[in-house]
Amino acid sequence: MQDQLKSILDNAMQQLEKAGSLSDTEEIRVRYLGKKGQVTEILKTMGSLAPEERKHLGQEANSVRNKIEQLLDQKFAEMKAAARAEKFKSEGIDVTEPGQEFNLGVKHPITITIDEISGIFMSMGYSIAEGPQAETVFHAFDALNSPPNHPSRDETDTFYFSDDIVLRPHTSSVQIRTLENENPPIKVISPGRCFRCDTPDATHSPMFHQVEGLLVDEGITMADLKGTLDAMAKQLFGSETKTKFRPHHFPFTEPSAEMDVSCFKCGGKGCRICKGSGWIEILGCGMVHPNVLKVGGIDTEKYTGFAFGMGVERIALLKYGIDDIRLFYENDMRFINQFK
Ligand code: DAH
Repeated sequence: MQDQLKSILDNAMQQLEKAGSLSDTEEIRVRYLGKKGQVTEILKTMGSLAPEERKHLGQEANSVRNKIEQLLDQKFAEMKAAARAEKFKSEGIDVTEPGQEFNLGVKHPITITIDEISGIFMSMGYSIAEGPQAETVFHAFDALNSPPNHPSRDETDTFYFSDDIVLRPHTSSVQIRTLENENPPIKVISPGRCFRCDTPDATHSPMFHQVEGLLVDEGITMADLKGTLDAMAKQLFGSETKTKFRPHHFPFTEPSAEMDVSCFKCGGKGCRICKGSGWIEILGCGMVHPNVLKVGGIDTEKYTGFAFGMGVERIALLKYGIDDIRLFYENDMRFINQFK
C-alpha cells in the first residue's frame, strides 16, 4: 500500500505538472481527492487495518493527501491568474495604438448664410424672433393685409393642413406674432423655414429659408429702411456694393420696394450671374402697412416701421456661385465639406 501511495503521489504530481487549464486541474482533484478518488478510497480502507499498520499507513496516506491538496491549491491559483491575464489581454485597450479618425461636422452653407445675416443685424442691435412653421391662416395671410382672393392663398401655392392651418409660405407671419406680443421700439429679425407648393428644379424648392426683418419705432422713414439694408448689403457682399430700390407691391407694406445689389461678380458690367444687367435682386421690403400695425394694437399715429424679407437660398447660391438649389438638400458631404 505504501508503494501504491507513492505511485499515486507521483502520478498526481506528473499530471498536475501537465495540466493546462482550470478544468484539467479540477479533473485531477476529482480523480484523487473526490468522493471516489484514489486517495479517498485508500483512506476508506484504513478502518480495516491492524492498529499498528493503521497508524503508520494513515499518516502516510494523510501526508499524500495533504501534499496533493497543496499542489492543487497552487495549480488552481496559477490557472486562475492565467485565465484572468488572458481575459485582460483580450478585453484590454492598447493605448499605444493609433486612434480611430472621426470626422468633425461642418456647418451647412444655409446655416452659414443665416448666421452671417443674423450676425450683421445683431451687431445693429436686432434680436431674433421665432414663430411656428405650421401657422394659422390669420398670421400667414389675413393679418398681413393679404386680400381674400390673393393668389398666394391658393392650394396650388400654399400647403394647407386644414382651412385654418398652413405650412407658412413666408416668415412674414412672425412679424404679426411679434407685433401682438411686443411694444415699440421693436427691432427683430426672424430666420426660418418656409414652404410653398413648388416643383423642385434648379431654382425652386418646396422647402426653403427666409430671413424676415421688422423695425417699429417713432419717426421711422423710408430713409432708415434704405440705410439699414444698404449697410447690410455692403457687409454681406463687400464694401463696394451699391444698392437700388425699385417700386414693387406687397400687401403688408406701403410703399413697397425690391432691393437690387450691384453684381458682386462683375461689379456692374454685366455677366452670367447678373444676367447682363449688372444688378441682382435680393429682397422685398417696405414701410409696414398701417393695417398690419393695427392688428398688433400699435398706435399708427405715433409709430411707423419698416420690414423686409429675403430668401436665404438665393443669397447662398449667389454668394457661393452654386447653380442648383437642390444641392443644398442632398446632404452630400463632398458638397457640404467645401464650406468649411
Ligand atoms: N414675404 C415676402 C415674400 O415671401 C418677402 C417680403 C417682402 C417680406 C416685403 C417683407 C416685406 O417683410 O416687407 O416674398
